[in-house]
Amino acid sequence: MNTQYFFGSFPALDLGELVLREILATDAQDYFDYMNRNEMEGFLTKENRPQTIEKALEEVQYWGSLFPAKRSIYWAIALKETNQMIGTAGFNHISFANSRAEISYDLNPDYWGKGVMLKSIKGILHFADFGLGLVRIQATVIIDNEKSIKVLERCGFEKEGFMKKYEVVEGEHKDYYMFGRVV
Ligand SMILES: CC(C)(COP(=O)(O)OP(=O)(O)OC[C@H]1O[C@@H](n2cnc3c(N)ncnc32)[C@H](O)[C@@H]1OP(=O)(O)O)[C@@H](O)C(=O)NCCC(=O)NCCS
Repeated sequence: MNTQYFFGSFPALDLGELVLREILATDAQDYFDYMNRNEMEGFLTKENRPQTIEKALEEVQYWGSLFPAKRSIYWAIALKETNQMIGTAGFNHISFANSRAEISYDLNPDYWGKGVMLKSIKGILHFADFGLGLVRIQATVIIDNEKSIKVLERCGFEKEGFMKKYEVVEGEHKDYYMFGRVV
C-alpha cells in the first residue's frame, strides 16, 4: 500500500442522506451531548465518554488528528442536509505492516434503529477493502452489547474469541468478545 498517496486528501464518503467526513473541532458540542446520554451507559470505557466539553474537544481533535498524522482514519457520520455530526466510525488503529485494523463506532441514540451505523460501516468496509487493501479488520465488544454485536454480524464479522475481564467500564471489569472479518 502506498501510504503517501493514500494520506493525500481526506476520503469523504457520500452515502446519500449521510456523509462520512473529517471530524472537526466544531463537532465537540454534538459529541459531548450524545456521549453523555443515559443510553450510552455500560458500553464504552470512561475514557471514551468525555466528562466535560473541554475533554470532548480534546477527543474530537485526537480523532481528527489521526489522518493528518498519517496514522489512521476516523470519520464523522454527519447528516448531509445540516452537516450535524450524529456519530463517529473508523479505525482507532491501523497496522500497515500487517494490513490489519481495529474498527470502532458510536451513534447518537436519537438515530438508533434506523440502519445508520449499518450503512456507515458497510461504506467504511468497502473503502477498507478497495482503498486500503486491509486483510483483517477486528472489533472488541462487551458481551452484552447486543446492538453492536448485530451490527458486526450483519457486516460479515465472525465471533473469534472471549476475553475475560478485558476492560474496565464504569468501575467494573467487563468480558469482551473479539470479532474479526478477514478477506
Ligand atoms: C452500536 C450502535 C451504533 C448500534 O446502533 P443501531 O442503530 O442499533 O445500529 P444500526 O444503525 O445498524 O441499525 C440497525 C437497526 O435499524 C433497523 N433499521 C431500520 N431501518 C433500516 C434500514 N433502512 N436499513 C437497515 N436497518 C434498518 C434494523 O432493523 C435494526 O434494528 P434491530 O437491531 O432491532 O433489528 C449504537 O447502539 C451505539 O452507538 N451504542 C453505543 C456505543 C457502542 O456500543 N459502540 C460500539 C462499541 S463496540
